[in-house]
Amino acid sequence: MMDWTDRHCRYFMRRLSPGVQLYTEMVTAAAIHHGDADALLQFDASEHPVAVQIGGSDPALMAEAARKAATAGYDEININVGCPSDRVQSGRFGACLMAEPERVVDCFEAMRQASDVPVTIKSRIGIDDHDSYAYLRRFVDPLADAGCRRFIVHARVAILEGLSPKENRSVPPLKYDRVYRLKRDCPDLEVIINGGIRSVAEVEAALERVDGVMIGRAAYHSPFFLAELERRFLSGADLPERLSIVKQMLPYIEAQLAEGERLSRITRHMLGLYAGQPGARAWRRALSENAHRRGAGVEVLASALDAIPEAA
Ligand SMILES: Cc1cc2nc3c(=O)[nH]c(=O)nc-3n(C[C@H](O)[C@H](O)[C@H](O)COP(=O)(O)O)c2cc1C
Repeated sequence: MMDWTDRHCRYFMRRLSPGVQLYTEMVTAAAIHHGDADALLQFDASEHPVAVQIGGSDPALMAEAARKAATAGYDEININVGCPSDRVQSGRFGACLMAEPERVVDCFEAMRQASDVPVTIKSRIGIDDHDSYAYLRRFVDPLADAGCRRFIVHARVAILEGLSPKENRSVPPLKYDRVYRLKRDCPDLEVIINGGIRSVAEVEAALERVDGVMIGRAAYHSPFFLAELERRFLSGADLPERLSIVKQMLPYIEAQLAEGERLSRITRHMLGLYAGQPGARAWRRALSENAHRRGAGVEVLASALDAIPEAA
């Protein structure tokens, strides 16, 4: 998620679940070509398994991005065919590419030739008034024929004009049945459902019909959800203490600060750690008010912890 799942966020999330697959925010192929690719693709070894999401529609640039992502060590390379923002549309990529499956196939094939890392797709169920199962299949089938095996489908259409990106994540209704049907009709594909899934019970229900669930906002706002998912569906490990998660972050934070990073760039992702717990508001407030101050260090976390009754 743009501006949310940066490397600091992913490092933190990995403390909560050793097993979930993490995804980067979208990085454009153009930025990788023109910018500092090493910095854009940098991640910590402990983030594995981690996928990079690439946005673009020029097969040559997409292949270059895939090659660099593979060299950087990513476990999966995902093509963004779901973002509806104007900026992305003017670059003719993101959700508007659902109308051009051949172009996505060209990108997919170029990327596959450029690296051995699995290339996957994240899309919507449709765009604008192309809101039918047939339209989803018109998009998926040529990619499946080209060898794509994993499809992550955000179960709502994207409205390309008239709705903001934020509205496009809530206004078009969720149509899970469309995604379930895709799995039923194409059992050889790995189908991962996304959109509005917020509880262990909802994940459990979805997993009866598809191969996986992608969680966005619920994991960001309540990161402890990842620990619950780890316990229920992955290792079965006991839930960690939130305090131990904070303690695990301290050496990382100190190392990052020593390299010149600002404390708030890391702690902003930790605001939801105590969501739903006593002291959640005090924790959040202490971090938000103090972490951005010049020279702020790990003592800010210590005093935020002091504000929480159970951690004292
Ligand atoms: C702030 C924000 C940024 C996002 N950026 C991306 C992105 O870069 N790539 C992407 O595929 N989806 C992006 N999304 C969409 C989410 O990945 C997800 O598809 C959507 O929020 C629905 O899932 P959820 O209800 O579990 O959050 C973003 C969502 C949010 C809230």
